[in-house]
Amino acid sequence: MLNPEVSRIIQSRMSVYPTLFTGEVVDKEVVEELIQNANTAPTHRLTQPWLFKVFGGTSKQGLVEEIFRLNPAYDDIKKERLQYKFDKSSHILCIVMKRHEDKVPEWEEIAATAMAVQNLWISCVDSSLGGYWSSPKYSEDLHSFLGLESDERCLGFFYLGKYDAATPLRRDTSRRDPSTSKIEWM
Ligand SMILES: Cc1cc2nc3c(=O)[nH]c(=O)nc-3n(C[C@H](O)[C@H](O)[C@H](O)COP(=O)(O)O)c2cc1C
Repeated sequence: MLNPEVSRIIQSRMSVYPTLFTGEVVDKEVVEELIQNANTAPTHRLTQPWLFKVFGGTSKQGLVEEIFRLNPAYDDIKKERLQYKFDKSSHILCIVMKRHEDKVPEWEEIAATAMAVQNLWISCVDSSLGGYWSSPKYSEDLHSFLGLESDERCLGFFYLGKYDAATPLRRDTSRRDPSTSKIEWM
């Protein structure tokens, strides 16, 4: 028998987008606690490939300006939309995966990094914190701006913010295939 509370928490995780964020800043200690939870993800041969580069305040503004610089074709509307997302977010967490080529294949390190993100994401349940993983094409172009080593890759961003917990958010289960369709008993 599963612990129903654990199932409820896992099933309550959802993407919360910056349009719902209040613009309030999440305490540094809370961001650290989220990453502490991320840090307990499973990892083959303990390579612990995840790394979070956290942008808030002026560094967050520096990141969005770098994205504009990398995308000169962006028109004013596109820029305004992205600036709005950044302004409403408390922090932008760049999700980085560090390769350990001699130890495990790349897919295992991407998988472990995604599990770390899932931990962080689940940790937002039942709090006024929300967020989502964004994976724009230009993530990889930020390599030098982020000061990444040649064996590191940016896999996108986690937009983190506070939202009004009274906002009725309901996970849209109707868009999901039934779990029974994901099992083949052999
Ligand atoms: C690896 C990964 C990349 C994602 N990239 C994007 C993205 O670029 N833009 C976006 O709107 N959502 C992105 N998402 C969030 C999904 O759209 C979201 O998880 C999906 O709609 C299901 O909604 P839920 O998270 O509320 O269950 C990404 C999710 C994952 C796991």
